[in-house]
Amino acid sequence: MQYRFTKIYEHNIVFWSIQELAEYLINQSNAVVFIDKQVFQDYSSLILKNTNLPYFVMDINEHQKNLSTAEYIWQILISNKITRHHNVIIIGGGVLNDVVLFACSVFKRGLNCISVPTTLLSMVDASIGGKNAVNLNHIKNTLGTLHIPIQNIIVKDFLSTLSKEQLLSGWAEILKVALVKDAQFYNHCIHYLQKNLLPDSDIIKTSIQLKLDVIQNDIDDSNERQLLNYGHTIAHAIEGYFEDQNIYIPHGYAVILGILIENAIAEKLNLLHTSIKNKIEQDLKKYYSYESYPITADVIPILLSKIQQDKKNTTTALRFTLIEDIGKGKTKVEVSTQLIEEVLKGILSE
Ligand SMILES: NC(=O)c1ccc[n+]([C@@H]2O[C@H](COP(=O)([O-])OP(=O)(O)OC[C@H]3O[C@@H](n4cnc5c(N)ncnc54)[C@H](O)[C@@H]3O)[C@@H](O)[C@H]2O)c1
Repeated sequence: MQYRFTKIYEHNIVFWSIQELAEYLINQSNAVVFIDKQVFQDYSSLILKNTNLPYFVMDINEHQKNLSTAEYIWQILISNKITRHHNVIIIGGGVLNDVVLFACSVFKRGLNCISVPTTLLSMVDASIGGKNAVNLNHIKNTLGTLHIPIQNIIVKDFLSTLSKEQLLSGWAEILKVALVKDAQFYNHCIHYLQKNLLPDSDIIKTSIQLKLDVIQNDIDDSNERQLLNYGHTIAHAIEGYFEDQNIYIPHGYAVILGILIENAIAEKLNLLHTSIKNKIEQDLKKYYSYESYPITADVIPILLSKIQQDKKNTTTALRFTLIEDIGKGKTKVEVSTQLIEEVLKGILSE
């Protein structure tokens, strides 16, 4: 006899002011805080002044999203005698969230985490849904688990100190989820961006809700959740390439470039109409430029070898998430290496 067990995952997401976060931290015991160095410099006087919680200031970037940093976190947890009765509070962007969540997910078979995202990208995407990862051999997100934080505390006030580039990087994930799920929301965002770089609460909430809608029926990432990988097969290869060069490209900038290249692939497959591809290109090129991240046709072999490492591939085929229209994503599209090469040559030789 075969039994089917139901897994229930809950996402407990609250929207607070910075004062509410400060009060919450004062009232916590049996918890430890990992906080991003920049956030510590800008906000510790507001949020950590009156707490007795032990805190650790982390100065890490994409380059250190790796096993050495995870081990550094494990050593801190051991030397501070952290047990499964403690909560781990993560205050920072997607990089800190990914590596601390990863480290906590395997430490003593799982510590409870509370995620306080401080970048736009981590508010709308990286801290939501429990995926975490570290890079291995400059291959993005090779090691990871699924470990949903017991609470996400979203404090929009943190966005006021983000650079224009970091805000646009976050917008990339908002536009991505809109492009695969909701045409009306996409048009609203493009219109809104003309006047404002700081998203309003409704945009943040809608973006989170769209992500939750996608993952709630496919938490294990076998089908619909792969919609969220749109743009990312190429983006991860681009990030890996820049990491080899020791150059940091914000994740969202790589995602937008990934979207533009993957749309050109969809056009060649007759999946996406040229006029829609061109409209999206026009919309996005108003905001995202790549002078600081030069990438030329001679790196195509490197990109192709990184694309072949993508987690969605089967043993015999390269698989992409593409769009058929604005708001209509399609998962598991098989694409030949030759077609990817042809599209990359067309775009990167321009
Ligand atoms: N797990 C997931 O589901 C998921 C989803 C999307 C992206 N990601 C990952 O997220 C990472 C990117 O995250 P990110 O864009 O947040 O980058 P990040 O964490 O590197 O933060 C970007 C920069 O902003 C600074 N910063 C953070 N908060 C700030 C604030 N409030 N004010 C001023 N500066 C601040 C940080 O110090 C850092 O220099 C990538 O590694 C990506 O792979 C994960």
